[in-house]
Amino acid sequence: MNALEIKDLDFAYESGKNVLSGINITVEEGEFVCLLGRNGSGKSTLARLINGLLAPTGGSVSVFGMDSSDKKNLFEIRKRAGMVFQNPDNQMVASIVEDDLAFGPENVGVKREEIGERISYALAAVGMEEFRHSTPSRLSGGQKQRIAIAGVLALKPDILILDESTAMLDPKGRGEVMKVVKDLNKNGMTIVSITHYMDEAVDCDRAVVLSEGKIVMQGAPREVFSRAEELARYGLNVPKAAYIAQKLRENGLPIADDIYEGEALEKALCGLFQKG
Ligand SMILES: Nc1ncnc2c1ncn2[C@@H]1O[C@H](COP(=O)(O)OP(=O)(O)O)[C@@H](O)[C@H]1O
Ligand SMILES: [Mg+2]
Repeated sequence: MNALEIKDLDFAYESGKNVLSGINITVEEGEFVCLLGRNGSGKSTLARLINGLLAPTGGSVSVFGMDSSDKKNLFEIRKRAGMVFQNPDNQMVASIVEDDLAFGPENVGVKREEIGERISYALAAVGMEEFRHSTPSRLSGGQKQRIAIAGVLALKPDILILDESTAMLDPKGRGEVMKVVKDLNKNGMTIVSITHYMDEAVDCDRAVVLSEGKIVMQGAPREVFSRAEELARYGLNVPKAAYIAQKLRENGLPIADDIYEGEALEKALCGLFQKG
């Protein structure tokens, strides 16, 4: 069964014009999909539609076969599709990490004995075991966001949706969070990561680019990154090396189309000129 199936989805807020139009995305279990797009392209709206905070104006969204516009499914969908947001401070409810992580499971009626186990599992998954009794406000941004992820993991979701979850972090914090997300995916977690940092999409299975509420590009990251000028048109910060590689290609240099980061480009160029 697909983790996520979005079919011919349209969405408009109130009586406004469509913010999303004709969206089709299928995410298989275990896949790591990145959703890219400039501010206002509709990414957060799509995330809210996935976990049933919003209902489609047209078309459908289903999570593990459950239609999100059927209210009966919402409880189960929200349990299975865990959301992590941008600001970790807004996602903390308690003054001790352990209590914060207990909050979600308590709310859905998990038994007391099991809650402790879930907290241990969630902290281990984000590499934060030694912070079980810490105060969240004392943690760094990256650590806070890892605790926010642990809070979602304590609900045992099957798919994790991250909406710009690294946007407020420094490079170190971003690296920490990305590593946790990649490790979770290696262990089978389905991931939908919304970001406008192109380098975060380099290792995903599939990148989907949204512009003005429509899917404008979709493919393996190497395919998407090789279309540097097109990406720039959609307002995305193309990795500089991808842009240069594309220019060199257009000018007849044999640069492979899967080169989009600095080191690989340097190697390719060295190879070329040493030969000549
Ligand atoms: N609650 C809302 N009511 C009306 N319009 C909204 C609301 N939230 C977002 N929008 C509009 O929907 C469009 C897409 O926004 P959003 O999904 O937040 O994009 P992104 O997450 O890619 O920045 C924007 O034009 C935005 O102004
Ligand atoms: Mg957003």
